[in-house]
Amino acid sequence: MINIDSLSFSFDHAHLVLDNVSCRIEPQHCLAILGNNGVGKSTLLKCINRIYHAQQGSITINDTDIDTLSKKELAKQIAYVPQNSLATHTMVFDAVLLGRKPYIQWDISKQDKNIVTDLLEKFALTAYASRYLNELSGGEMQKVVLARAMAQQPQFLLLDEPTNNLDPRNQHEILQYVQELAHKQQIGVAIVLHDLNLALRYCDRFLLMKNSTVYAYGSAEIITAAAINEVYGLQVEIIEHRDTKLIVPCDTKYNI
Ligand SMILES: Nc1ncnc2c1ncn2[C@@H]1O[C@H](COP(=O)(O)OP(=O)(O)O)[C@@H](O)[C@H]1O
Ligand SMILES: [Mg+2]
Repeated sequence: MINIDSLSFSFDHAHLVLDNVSCRIEPQHCLAILGNNGVGKSTLLKCINRIYHAQQGSITINDTDIDTLSKKELAKQIAYVPQNSLATHTMVFDAVLLGRKPYIQWDISKQDKNIVTDLLEKFALTAYASRYLNELSGGEMQKVVLARAMAQQPQFLLLDEPTNNLDPRNQHEILQYVQELAHKQQIGVAIVLHDLNLALRYCDRFLLMKNSTVYAYGSAEIITAAAINEVYGLQVEIIEHRDTKLIVPCDTKYNI
């Protein structure tokens, strides 16, 4: 389990971007990180992946402080897929192989190559192995970055808005895959999402952030019309549909 305890972070030592944030990323669970633009969601993921170092609080993985782990050790535990993965002039196979970096000693082994080949097959990317990343669609690109993250064979997966710019089928495919990773492969997932209905459908833990801190944290029970109004300033109705909640915005007139 990743335990985030009373985390505070500031870029300028003047105002807090994360203010006393606590939550957990548990194996077999998908945590949705929700909140307005600029609330600190990406910063939180970057602190967990040690790109940023919080001034206060602690982050532990299975009771070990992340600060005590080497870069390689951390990369074997946590895979992080940032918000905007750059489309570069790298081939798909090589991009996924990069995920093996924490395991490669001197040279790339047959096992590394087999892992990449299997992942390409799993994500239906085999035909794209020698394509360049900048020749892929948004959906294909997102599968490549997910495949690279899985090549790391992590225990925890951090995803920053992985469904942005994807068509509905691709959004569901990606989130279904991620949910399966959590439920069947015991991986702990934290995922920043803006689509509340996708979050409710595929995630089982929710962190609602407001004013750089935790507004509410827990199971789907915390997603109420009142909470959404407080956090997003949006009036909604919540309908029970099969086993999930569906959020429907009310006919409110907002001023631009
Ligand atoms: N590198 C940076 N330097 C200074 N401020 C930053 C930096 N990155 C983000 N911020 C600020 O920190 C706040 C939180 O940003 P971010 O975590 O990216 O928000 P979110 O992902 O929730 O949209 C924002 O006010 C943003 O402007
Ligand atoms: Mg962000």
